[in-house]
Amino acid sequence: MNEIPNITPLERSLNTKVIKVNKNTVTIDELKEAGEILRKGGLVAFPTETVYGLGADAFNGESLNQVFKVKGRPNDNPLICHISDITMLNRLAATIPEEAQLLIDKFWPGALTIIFQKQPNVPYEATGKLETVGVRMPSHPIANLLIAAANTPLAAPSANLSTKPSPTTAQHCITDLDGRVDMIIDGGEADIGVESTVVMFKSNQPIILRPGGVTLEQLQSVIPSTTLFSISGKADLAITQHPPTPGMKYRHYAPNAEVIVIKKQFDSIKLNALINKLNGENKRVAAISSFNVDNVVVSKIVNDSKQFAHVLFAYLRELDSIADVIIIEAIDENYEGLAVMNRVNKAAASFLD
Ligand code: TXA
Ligand code: MG
Repeated sequence: MNEIPNITPLERSLNTKVIKVNKNTVTIDELKEAGEILRKGGLVAFPTETVYGLGADAFNGESLNQVFKVKGRPNDNPLICHISDITMLNRLAATIPEEAQLLIDKFWPGALTIIFQKQPNVPYEATGKLETVGVRMPSHPIANLLIAAANTPLAAPSANLSTKPSPTTAQHCITDLDGRVDMIIDGGEADIGVESTVVMFKSNQPIILRPGGVTLEQLQSVIPSTTLFSISGKADLAITQHPPTPGMKYRHYAPNAEVIVIKKQFDSIKLNALINKLNGENKRVAAISSFNVDNVVVSKIVNDSKQFAHVLFAYLRELDSIADVIIIEAIDENYEGLAVMNRVNKAAASFLD
């Protein structure tokens, strides 16, 4: 699998305005300035229910180019276009297959991105030069009102620099994007914590290109034939050479710390030996697991897959700065665990069972 090409993110030369907005009481008036920035071609980082997004007018090619530069993102990796009402979908998608409509009815607004054939005037900057476009209607009230205030679909990748985990708080966005974007809207922690599920249709059947906030089981409850393109984020030659979603060919997170994944209920004697060995090499070790781990700088405990999804990216950011090795206990790859392990596997250097 390719490493992310080393594209240097833009230098920090802007005066980024940070505004705090309460998602329970937000009004469109509070987002008027942000909407104007977007309409004029500027960039605004904003909260969604999955992770924070870096928004730009989906029909402004120049702004979209800026998004790639700001993130240091390869420009063949398409962006997701976010809409606040279903009429906006007609501006983006050339056709809406019947099966897609079933998923829309059930899961929008929500953490599901659907790939459609694009309308001719959707800029290629948004689609990574593809003839298809990814669309999602977020359920987060701030995201929704921001799109309405801008009065245009917002193309928005996750609001992180290309080599970092997706941001789940405004502080993560500030760390990565301060001085690089016009505005950051602080709307509190993202609820779900991992990105949306990306689905494409092949012969009327949904294929999950990226597991995410809407689970495989939920999709199968509407369309039983839904399948997963790749079981995990592990390198796969077919994907590397012919990726159906360009995002798949890049290794997503490149933590400075080495991530070691251990199987569920890993033998405790072997685990102690591993930690002793690493400590003997003067490596600072941290752990994320279902139990308390001794002799490490931090032991983070996660109890279930939903909570794991909520904290994963924040923990990776936090532990990356204080540990040389992060040991993560694997969880079952079902329900929310599928998306969690997809991200964990992408960050991992090795797997032990
Ligand atoms: O939850 C999310 O999806 C967040 C929030 C901000 O909405 N956004 C997000 O965007 O994660 P990003 O750019 O980090 O990931 C978009 C993924 C990539 O893997 C990309 O390759 C895939 O969606 N994608 C977008 N458009 C596509 C298309 N036309 N065909 C195939 N894959 C597409
Ligand atoms: Mg991303």
